[in-house]
Amino acid sequence: MRSVVRGVGAYLPARALTNADLAQMVDTSDEWIVQRTGIRERHIAADHELTSDLALAAARDALDAAGMEPGEIDLIVLATSTPDNTFPATAVSVQAGLGITHGAAFDLQAVCSGFVFALATADNFLKSGAYKRALVIGAETFSRILDWSDRTTCVLFGDGAGAMVLEAVTDEGEGRGVLTSHLRSDGRHKNKLYVDGGVSSTKTIGYLRMEGREVFRYAVGMITDVIQDAFQATGENAQTLDWFVPHQANRRIIDASAHKLGIAPEKVVVTVDKHGNTSAASIPLALASACKDGRIKRGDLVMIEAMGGGFTWGSALIRW
Ligand code: ACO
Repeated sequence: MRSVVRGVGAYLPARALTNADLAQMVDTSDEWIVQRTGIRERHIAADHELTSDLALAAARDALDAAGMEPGEIDLIVLATSTPDNTFPATAVSVQAGLGITHGAAFDLQAVCSGFVFALATADNFLKSGAYKRALVIGAETFSRILDWSDRTTCVLFGDGAGAMVLEAVTDEGEGRGVLTSHLRSDGRHKNKLYVDGGVSSTKTIGYLRMEGREVFRYAVGMITDVIQDAFQATGENAQTLDWFVPHQANRRIIDASAHKLGIAPEKVVVTVDKHGNTSAASIPLALASACKDGRIKRGDLVMIEAMGGGFTWGSALIRW
């Protein structure tokens, strides 16, 4: 049994916040942000827009791309670190919004690696035969957990959502589907990137805090290790890859990882310039962009990877 991609979708809030806008808010400049991160603008959710609203719009777009009705979905796995509420899960709001009353819907939290963790989770449920068709969603409103007076973090992130429809198939004879996935965590690094508050903490509301240089120091090594795991498991390599769709945190991390792995620059999908770091949403947003403009086609070999708070990191190799 294999999990085959049937469609991907995206949603970005209407409001774009440029580097020039940010320079009016904190002591920064377009030049500094572009040089250090590659980010030029990011989207910010309207006050009334919740993570579930973004997720629902992306899910509808993915279902359209798949040519499927909501009722055909029996599993929703939603990755987010910015849920609407402490509970219930944001996934059940999406389920209700789609009018689905059967199957299961739950959230999963692995920060920026959330989409890779959600994809691996859904893939295992589909391969086991427990469910038939899954919506895998990454959706975030990081603007709500940013300290807008801290220039070292507020320039890096944005809001958005992306979604993918996966279907369990026995064999379509083309070798399509999720070929392998590799997930890792190491909690010794939990204080390098975290939110300094939460429901079980003394402070219920917190903001994102990050040791940027420390995150950068580990990122490339962790990313390339877990990609090598995927290559080793499948016998594929940088040359046989058609597309590399990394988590979109920082252009320098993306370029350094691709370079270390020997992946040609023209195979790398980059959206960080337009979206900023949208955490769990960044990979499906990048996938949707490369599918919509015709770059990723059926039969292509696509590597996704992410690294984020925890630390968590992971990769998945997909024959599209
Ligand atoms: N505008 C202008 N100056 C700034 C800004 C800003 N927005 N932010 C920091 N600075 C200043 C600092 O105060 C510092 O000034 P000082 O030398 O007078 O003290 C100077 O710029 C250099 O600061 P550094 O932190 O050393 O800058 P660095 O080159 O490391 O770049 C960055 C910072 C972009 C955060 C980098 O460390 C990075 O990309 N880290 C990875 C973090 C990341 O991508 N996290 C995303 C979440 S994790 C993930 O998704 C993988």
